[in-house]
Amino acid sequence: MPLDRSEEAVDSECAGQWQRLCSIDELVPDAGVTAWCRGEQIALFLLPAGSELSIYALANGDPFSGANVIGRGIVGDIAAQPVVASPLYKQHFRLADGRCIESPEIALRTWPVRLRDGWVEIDMHS
Ligand code: FES
Repeated sequence: MPLDRSEEAVDSECAGQWQRLCSIDELVPDAGVTAWCRGEQIALFLLPAGSELSIYALANGDPFSGANVIGRGIVGDIAAQPVVASPLYKQHFRLADGRCIESPEIALRTWPVRLRDGWVEIDMHS
């Protein structure tokens, strides 16, 4: 089930560029969850590969439909690149850089992600 998280920090509490979004335990392997941060809806994807974990953060808004649905998309691979398919019109977006496979001139915004002490953090200033 997608998570909806409210960002509680206010500007004066902003300690730096890395914004804590949720615990790693709240992510779902090979699927997306949705987080809110500073008015942005962010789709987070966790891809386990052996002992490695990859976490991706992309804009949740689908540029083709205007709906906030990317976090509910199905994860897969195209040309050995992890992608998410929009649940509405089925365009595929690369998780690494948000680029649309079918319309490469379109890309979702992405943010750098890191894991710190079990917390998923993204760089909101990038
Ligand atoms: S605005 Fe809060 S992370 Fe910088």
